[in-house]
Amino acid sequence: MPSWLRSLAFDRSPSAAKALSGLKAHTAEPNPVAVGVALLQNSSVETLELGPLAKLPPFAPVVIRLLRLFDRDEVEQAEIARLVEADPALTAEILGVVNSPLYAIRGRVTSPAHGVAMLGVEQMKALATTLAMRALLSGSPKTPIVRRFWKHSVASAAIAQEMAPLFTVDKGLGYIAAMVHDLGRIGLLAAHGEAYGSLATTVHQSVEEILEIERTRFGMDHCHAGALLSRAWGLPKSLREGVKHHHDECSDRRILGLVQLSCRLANGFMFQSILHRNPHTPAETMESFVPKAMHQDLTARLQSLELAAFQTIESFDF
Ligand SMILES: [Fe+2]
Ligand SMILES: [Fe+2]
Repeated sequence: MPSWLRSLAFDRSPSAAKALSGLKAHTAEPNPVAVGVALLQNSSVETLELGPLAKLPPFAPVVIRLLRLFDRDEVEQAEIARLVEADPALTAEILGVVNSPLYAIRGRVTSPAHGVAMLGVEQMKALATTLAMRALLSGSPKTPIVRRFWKHSVASAAIAQEMAPLFTVDKGLGYIAAMVHDLGRIGLLAAHGEAYGSLATTVHQSVEEILEIERTRFGMDHCHAGALLSRAWGLPKSLREGVKHHHDECSDRRILGLVQLSCRLANGFMFQSILHRNPHTPAETMESFVPKAMHQDLTARLQSLELAAFQTIESFDF
């Protein structure tokens, strides 16, 4: 059963809460799994305002809780481990990836606590988000559109992680913000199925044309759809900004600027989610979008950014 379905089936009934409080009352040391369960029960998802977008199942509660931790300055490894432990399927998935050649960790990682100790808090959150996004898309038929959406998200995330220090953004935050920036496209695809699929399989003149068609046919563009979803899911403000404004004109040099540039470069490396004619080459994007002071530094990194995008896509392919 996919993790999102399992999370929806999570028992939030008063009797379950009573049983949990009884468990706590009779246990001298707090049971880490019970603590995690109690935390998850506070992760409600508000879906009333979503309309057809509610067809997209939300991230698992544990992932939403992990992402909300971006709103706090200090997060302890033990807290992350407790949250992950409360979701056995996510735990199994994470341990599978952490023990794969991708992370090249010596010895075997056997628990979330061990995993967080080896990877660190930010990497663990990034991994959980990657798996959550993959779960959203891998549940759909593996059409070329779904695969393009996935590759664009992963490529943007890998590029953002590499460039984050230049924007004085935390690497993990940059990675996750870019990973989720086009969440609205997945929402519109879930809500409108073939109608959005036909838009996504047509080659368009420009991004502006795509946004205009989305507004005309579906009543909102994917930025607005993503804003509704990320607000209903309770994602932190630092992530919602990129989701909502990544196609706006702006001269931001922090998280939003990082997401915008990562999305453009992913397109330039030919990882477009919806095809449009003559996307800017990476060199053109540098010229037209990047502040002069950053040109040299970023231009020197173009090759390694493209390589990072390819490698990350390969690592998380489904
Ligand atoms: Fe977009
Ligand atoms: Fe994008």
